[in-house]
Amino acid sequence: MVKKDGKIKIRSMGIYLPEKVLTNLDLEKMVETSDEWITTRTGIKERRIAAEEQVTSDLGVAAARQALDRAGLKPEDLDLILVATNSPDTLFPSTACWIQKKLSTREMPAFDLQAGCTGVLYGLIVAEGLILSGVCRRVLLIGVDILSKITNWEDRTTCVLFGDGAGAFILEESDDDSGLLSHFWGADGSLGELLMLPGGGTLHPASEQTVKEKMHYIHMKGNDVFKHAVKRMGESILEALKSAGLDKHQVDFLIPHQANLRIIDAIGERLDLDPEKVVVNVDRYGNMSVATIPVALYELQEEGKLQPGKIVAMVAFGAGFTWASAIYRW
Ligand code: UT7
Repeated sequence: MVKKDGKIKIRSMGIYLPEKVLTNLDLEKMVETSDEWITTRTGIKERRIAAEEQVTSDLGVAAARQALDRAGLKPEDLDLILVATNSPDTLFPSTACWIQKKLSTREMPAFDLQAGCTGVLYGLIVAEGLILSGVCRRVLLIGVDILSKITNWEDRTTCVLFGDGAGAFILEESDDDSGLLSHFWGADGSLGELLMLPGGGTLHPASEQTVKEKMHYIHMKGNDVFKHAVKRMGESILEALKSAGLDKHQVDFLIPHQANLRIIDAIGERLDLDPEKVVVNVDRYGNMSVATIPVALYELQEEGKLQPGKIVAMVAFGAGFTWASAIYRW
């Protein structure tokens, strides 16, 4: 039974961003595109790309180590490793288990959660249930993706959009006023085909044909996704604010999933928020899928903006379609 008056909090955070920077000018040499098109249509200027030898768990481990260090904890102090990803090291075992191996933790549960770009917020909600019901005391939640390895680098409609990165949260029950105040989540599987990686599962098992038809890469009907993203993220944040008993004007910072600056601006406008309150890093990292929100939150803290009491609204949308929002008092 979840304690109704309880809250979970983010005890510490960590991130990892690969060193290699790929700029729009670099992309101009790879596909028929331009810095001008990418900038005006998406707001992206550059993104990070994982090294050839790096796998998803490597990025996740780096972010996790930083979060553990910052909390003064050791891997054995955790109760659960929960990884949100859409680009796992292997279909199985889960990336969470590979991360457990690399962190050399004691035995503990570890599993992946797949919910498109919404994964980290879904993870926060799952962790809340597990912590407040007493199943776990301390959860390591990681959002990590290496989309560059599942991107068709000949498809200009997708390859200019994505980047690689990781963020990690150590989650515990809150002992003060801070923490996760409310959330809202949803999905509509009937629209799944608009954003998918069709090959390699049981629907289209890997074959010469799936490789030839580039089915092991991200396929997206960008325009359709765009419309649904704006609608669902806008609605979802209002629902979560309502559950928290807060008005949109009480939001100090809005962290929307970073897919496209035009989507981010549209949500900020819908909520009638001062642009300074809307967190943007899509220009520097592109769409890192599940890593966008943890990296943005981490950077906000690094900038010294997360004073106690600040209200942070986070909202995401992704493949599935899935969407979720979370209201957090720092
Ligand atoms: O993270 C999960 C959620 N994902 C998203 O939220 C992504 C949502 N979608 C988007 O961000 C936008 O739809 C895109 C950035 C993907 C595309 O922007 P758009 O304004 O919807 O463009 P479009 O797809 O309607 O394409 C407009 C034109 C087309 O040419 P024609 O048919 O008008 O001649 C495209 O072929 O732009 C062309 N185009 C490009 N031109 C130069 C598409 N990609 C490129 C490119 N460079 N990279």
